[in-house]
Amino acid sequence: MATHTGPGDGTGGDVASGDRASTVALSEQTRLRAREIVARYPRPRSALLPMLHLVQAEQGYVSPQGIALCAEELGLTMAEVGAVATFYTMYKRRPTGDWLISVCTNTVCGFLGGDAIFEALSEHLSVRHDETTADGTITLEHAECLAACDYAPVVTVNYEFFDQQTAETALRLARDLQGGQRPSPSRGAALCTFAEMSRQLAGFADDRDGAVAAGPAGEPTLVGARLAERRRETAPPYPDGSPGAAAADQRKGD
Ligand code: FES
Repeated sequence: MATHTGPGDGTGGDVASGDRASTVALSEQTRLRAREIVARYPRPRSALLPMLHLVQAEQGYVSPQGIALCAEELGLTMAEVGAVATFYTMYKRRPTGDWLISVCTNTVCGFLGGDAIFEALSEHLSVRHDETTADGTITLEHAECLAACDYAPVVTVNYEFFDQQTAETALRLARDLQGGQRPSPSRGAALCTFAEMSRQLAGFADDRDGAVAAGPAGEPTLVGARLAERRRETAPPYPDGSPGAAAADQRKGD
């Protein structure tokens, strides 16, 4: 198997070339953890997505070296791994800061102020889309719908939600992060760094206090359910013999 990386090798190899000098070498522990992930699946290649998060946890992005490690461990070509790594936006192609700020600029959020939030952050941090501040701490990106339109406009930091933001609150959030604080997200677990979050996405438990805490669904999320209740609307039953029907029967028996 070829182990060189570069343009045309299928790894998206040109994408990280400017940053190779700053890449931390992958540790033996990462390789061992990668094997732990592989052991969780009946077919090794099913482990690829969490493995990409694992290498990202260590290097801050999916480097050509990370692609090579995944390919070696899974018996895939680097082109196959590179094709997956470059398809999903959660896999970064350049070193990412400790704090990845994603601003939803899709229709609902954009209309309600997402574009202004992005512009304010861009000016304050002196970076544009998919760029990282000079000190390497914050990466800013435009995001497509973050599945939280009921809280628009939303910003996430390492995928934790900060709801109903304005340019002012988003700037305060950025300043807090720059000042070394970890502001509390509007809901969900406590804020973690990009590396900590990537490790969780690779399937390794985070034992920080409150790391997996999640509050109840917020009021905007529940509006639809409350309306359905008031109108006595119900979902159609699962077809007989389906796994959903079996689970519903079991719930009735509990
Ligand atoms: S449009 Fe922003 S979360 Fe859906």
